[in-house]
Amino acid sequence: MREINNNLHNLCEEKLEVGKIGSFVKNLFKTKNPDDMIESASKGGLQKTLGAFDLIILGVGAIIGSGIFTVVGIAAAGSPESAGAGPALVVSMILASLACVFSAMCYSEFASMIPVAGSAYLYTYATLGEFLAWIVGWVLMLEYLVGYIAVASAWSGYLIQFLKGFPFLPSFITNPPIWLINDYSSAVSTLTKQGIDPTTVIPTIAGIPISINLPAVLVTVFMAAILVKGIKESTNMAGIMVVIKLAVIALFVFTGMFYVKPQNWVPFAPNGFEGIFMGAFIIFFAYIGFDAIATAAEETKNPQKNLPIGIIGSLATCTIVYVLVGLVLTGMVPIGQIDTHAPIAHAMRAVGQDWVAGLISLGALTGLTSVLLVLMLAGTRILYAMSRDNYLPTILKTVHKKFKTPHIITVLVAIICMFGSMFLNISTAAELCNFGTFTSFIIVCIAVIILRKTDPNRKRPFRVPFCPFFPLLGVICCGGLMIYSMQFLTTSRFLFPLWLVIGVLIYFGYGYKKQRKIEKDEK
Ligand code: ALA
Repeated sequence: MREINNNLHNLCEEKLEVGKIGSFVKNLFKTKNPDDMIESASKGGLQKTLGAFDLIILGVGAIIGSGIFTVVGIAAAGSPESAGAGPALVVSMILASLACVFSAMCYSEFASMIPVAGSAYLYTYATLGEFLAWIVGWVLMLEYLVGYIAVASAWSGYLIQFLKGFPFLPSFITNPPIWLINDYSSAVSTLTKQGIDPTTVIPTIAGIPISINLPAVLVTVFMAAILVKGIKESTNMAGIMVVIKLAVIALFVFTGMFYVKPQNWVPFAPNGFEGIFMGAFIIFFAYIGFDAIATAAEETKNPQKNLPIGIIGSLATCTIVYVLVGLVLTGMVPIGQIDTHAPIAHAMRAVGQDWVAGLISLGALTGLTSVLLVLMLAGTRILYAMSRDNYLPTILKTVHKKFKTPHIITVLVAIICMFGSMFLNISTAAELCNFGTFTSFIIVCIAVIILRKTDPNRKRPFRVPFCPFFPLLGVICCGGLMIYSMQFLTTSRFLFPLWLVIGVLIYFGYGYKKQRKIEKDEK
């Protein structure tokens, strides 16, 4: 009898355990209803004013930045951790744009189906549940905040190039100490390249070497101040930025083509496939930003037609622009002499066109400033959405009484960016940003396939053609480039999983519990 009692007790406990595990798993995959999201978005009453051309302008405005003004140098010439593509950079550019096109179509399907301004975080919440939504939100921080650090570092490089154009300025401005305009690892590598022992130049405090990218820190304070005060993004402003960016790029292409020496294109691929694939991985950074178009879905006229045209049109425009820049840059300067801080302006200086270099630096600074603003804005808004959904402390969703902006998040983000720019060099930051973006693209591609099965009747104004093949090609291209590059990139290969582990710990240590507590209180 006692044995039967014991067995019954054990059975009940097991059932309870299974029940607990069941509800735990159910909670992880708990989704947010897309109809609720659409309904609350429709209350916002945004006007549908954007056409296909406006979207292309918006896309080009968000995409063209440090990728083509700076990272292109690393993709072509390589870095200590990755082989450069050499003149085959153009092949890398086309490969990277292919990886984007399939994901872009998946973004278009979601954006036209759930036209709310929460991007991949909300698409995932609507389809794959809260845990993966948290992970997407967390890796989007890599895209926006760590991407910001990479762009801020490029901004700093172009500021110095620009100031060099004014020889009458004091030399500490035109030629500042290396340790005041670089993170520590960049300062060490620049000094070592110049044959100088870094320990003789970099100052120390209590034995700790001090190297700070001061222009990056200052521009971050400036950006945060603008965002706290409130900024009304408009396509008109984006339009002016796009014209300036495209004008300086056109100036580079049309001036530089007269200095192209075809012998610089030989050998075409000095590091073979390794260089081409690593180049594609690195230059992928230059294409990031088209997902910003998806966030304008609520304001787009006829999203079924215009969103895919806008997304794919801006990708195509940027690919053409990038290939032209790639051809001219690698034709003008021998691969070994390409500068990795401000390659475009430097190439012009190298052929004696200092005034063109000055204009390019000014145009690049303007273009990079707008990308910085968009990245910080996007980062703060995703964090805001996550804290509104209770996955981060609610203090973060506090809105400034006068300016009506999430000032606490903005200040926090600015501190993270300043701190990050002290430790991350531009290539590690761009690599981490790419890992984060690839991950969110992969999840969005998978989400499209899953939602076609679980909710086949939902109205899809735009459908990815040849589903599931195109989304799968997106997964293969993004996943392939990511996995291939991991064998070489020792620093970011270590930092990326670390970032994911920290995210998972925060979710289980805070977000999951907080959400359940709120659900319990509501009952
Ligand atoms: N695509 C953006 C840039 O190149 C992130 O700056």
